[in-house]
Amino acid sequence: MKQTILVTGGTGFIGSHTTVELQQAGYQVVIIDNLSNSNANVIDGIEKITGVRPAFEKVDCCDIKALEGVFQKYPGIKGIIHFAASKAVGESVEKPLLYYRNNLNSLINLLELMPKYDVKGIIFSSSCTVYGQPTAENLPVTEQAPIRKALSPYGNTKQVNEEIIQDFIHSGAPIKSVILRYFNPIGAHPTALIGELPNGVPMNLIPFVTQTAIGIRKQLKIFGNDYGTPDGTCIRDYIYVVDLAKAHVKAMERVLDNPDTDPVEVFNIGTGRGLSTLEVVEGFERATGVKLPWEFAPRREGDIEKVWGNVDKANKVLGWKAEADIDDVLRSAWKWQLKLREDGIQ
Ligand code: UD1
Repeated sequence: MKQTILVTGGTGFIGSHTTVELQQAGYQVVIIDNLSNSNANVIDGIEKITGVRPAFEKVDCCDIKALEGVFQKYPGIKGIIHFAASKAVGESVEKPLLYYRNNLNSLINLLELMPKYDVKGIIFSSSCTVYGQPTAENLPVTEQAPIRKALSPYGNTKQVNEEIIQDFIHSGAPIKSVILRYFNPIGAHPTALIGELPNGVPMNLIPFVTQTAIGIRKQLKIFGNDYGTPDGTCIRDYIYVVDLAKAHVKAMERVLDNPDTDPVEVFNIGTGRGLSTLEVVEGFERATGVKLPWEFAPRREGDIEKVWGNVDKANKVLGWKAEADIDDVLRSAWKWQLKLREDGIQ
């Protein structure tokens, strides 16, 4: 049995998939989540997949007393993977203080408790949003590309959180960190026992696509067809959530078992390949055989035209590589949507 890992936001989309991969790699997992955007029955799905029920505590990371109680109840936590955060870009513009409070306080509380409870490493969920729109010569974007002023309070919390980690470690704190900058996570576990469960009308492309395909939404709107891209629609680097989850296991092994690495490291986690919105829509139809009603609509404010990652560093240094085939990934998202209907959830 490997070390015990605390996964904050572990009932969420990426957190649940990462818990599965951690447990399958032999780690013991303690999940904390305030369930503000997820459901505790995700734990059942994790248990069905892995045969192991992770420990779960309904705790908000902003509540430092309750958080400290978790470290006391589960002595021996050696690593943290910190997913818990508010993540709706639009909402962050309307409620900036909520975003700054949630996303900054939770990290500060965790960092503060780490030395006291001898927790050695923290993996932080960052985002390619920190790059904004890279210049043409910076595409595919590397970890060295300039960080641009964030377009939203949400994006800014990712940038500031990265700085907080850097500053804390540079001050001599006895911890290590790997910061993972994700591109666009999509898909669901191949068992369809866990997946993405958006609240209300989905803002992200894939949940909107699958909800449209199943008839919950009438029509997908493709935001903008006059961008400077080959087919005029935006380009993103869509990364399979299971591949992304596996990157966290590699990162955890690196911070806990590798004494020679730098105390803070940053890795892009993507496929290294850009796909346009139209290519995704066509890919979905091809992979599932389901016809998708869609039309072009005006650009969405704040959208970035094109971004995809250079993932050489993750490939070489972390020893991780995205492996999934995009058609399989799109089928996994569709299978998950069908399962939600079967279960009467959506
Ligand atoms: C968005 C956020 C990003 C955040 C990420 C978290 C913005 C500008 N960016 O990324 O900061 O880290 O979510 O998941 O909000 N699209 C459509 N129709 C739709 C939905 C999306 O055409 O109904 C297009 C978008 O214009 C975009 C692509 O699909 O080109 C992907 O959109 P989305 O899934 O929302 O992700 P991002 O915008 O890349």
